[in-house]
Amino acid sequence: MLISFICNVLISSIAYSITRKLIPNLKEMFIKSNIYGIDLNKDNGIKVPEAFGVVTGCIFLISLFLFIPIPFGHIFFERRSDDFSNNEFVELISALLSICCMILLGFADDVLNLKWRHKLLLPTIASLPLLMVYYVNFNSTTIMLPKILHECFTTSINIGFLYYVYMGSLAVFCTNAINILAGINGLEVGQSLIIAISVIVFNLLQIFGDSVSEKHQLSLYIMCPYLATTLALWEFNKYPSTVFVGDTFNYLSGMTFAVVGILGHFSKTLLLFFIPQILNFLYSTPQLFHFIPCPRHRLPKFDPKTGLLNYSKTSFKLEDLSILGRICFNILKTLRLIKYEVTKDNVIYCNNLTLINFFILFTGPIHENKLNNLILCFQVACSLVAFMIRYPLAHYFYG
Ligand code: UD1
Ligand code: MG
Repeated sequence: MLISFICNVLISSIAYSITRKLIPNLKEMFIKSNIYGIDLNKDNGIKVPEAFGVVTGCIFLISLFLFIPIPFGHIFFERRSDDFSNNEFVELISALLSICCMILLGFADDVLNLKWRHKLLLPTIASLPLLMVYYVNFNSTTIMLPKILHECFTTSINIGFLYYVYMGSLAVFCTNAINILAGINGLEVGQSLIIAISVIVFNLLQIFGDSVSEKHQLSLYIMCPYLATTLALWEFNKYPSTVFVGDTFNYLSGMTFAVVGILGHFSKTLLLFFIPQILNFLYSTPQLFHFIPCPRHRLPKFDPKTGLLNYSKTSFKLEDLSILGRICFNILKTLRLIKYEVTKDNVIYCNNLTLINFFILFTGPIHENKLNNLILCFQVACSLVAFMIRYPLAHYFYG
């Protein structure tokens, strides 16, 4: 394992250097192909090349293609089929297939601007090869129950087909959750880096602990080149961004996390690393399901006079909302989770329901870079909480 791991780290370091060199050289090509966006939080109107996730994604995949013969190469020399870890080999190939599929679909989204219903459908389709391999290799659909329920029920229950629905939903959630916590320079890449580092630390802790280590090895082999290529992208996407990552990167990242969580059997721990994304999703629900109007962009509003960001708003009349919309608005109002004002003609101006805007409700107008650092610090703090829940507390609840 050690030799494979050293080779993996070596390949990842080379991938980092190549990605760092390649990104600036490809910027012009993307702009010429009309794949660019305007930074909405600046007043210079400069074209920023977009969808650079496709570059890091390709190098990430190539790194893994080159790595395949290393942990599985002994078959070529020993020619003994009984040694061949067929299951792990198929898992790695299916993981690559799902990630590759997601890069393709993400790039299609960046170029064609797909609708939201497609954004939900695409990860479901891309996760099918993975679920098929899970079915053939494990088909374990049993979940452990907390100690507290052992006396009333059993220690574990088999939820059968629902487990596959859960895993499919995990892929849809991970891909979209990163994509909707976005809109300020460096945030998409920054949060992905912190989640990737958390997963790697967790894998190492499990490998050096007493757990079944093959699953965590596979996860490490995938996460290291991902981390390396994403780190290179961070150099160019951090404030002030000279490239945008596009939905390609968000989908690729989400699918990579979902793949390692599913194949590594640590999907619940993985979700613990997504606490800020879960909070953002829950807070966003009324707008995502259109109970409250959702504009095309919900990112904060740039004030050219001060150079600071303030929260952006959505507007509606209470009587135009559905019953669910009114209930959501009243709950948020009662819990003081929103800021709103009502004009004379009863139009309500309420902050867009994102975690980014929610932070600005507390900080007041704030510089983009400072806001990004604040949210990333929150992500790190949540990862620390996740480790606390996973180790001391899980031991207490699950024994
Ligand atoms: C998601 C969010 C949307 C948010 C957008 C920002 C939901 C339902 N959708 O939409 O509210 O505004 O991401 O990425 O929550 N951009 C910047 N600065 C950045 C990053 C992006 O100005 O640091 C702008 C650029 O114009 C870029 C565009 O956002 O071209 C990319 O948006 P896109 O990824 O297409 O938006 P969605 O993922 O559909
Ligand atoms: Mg996006």
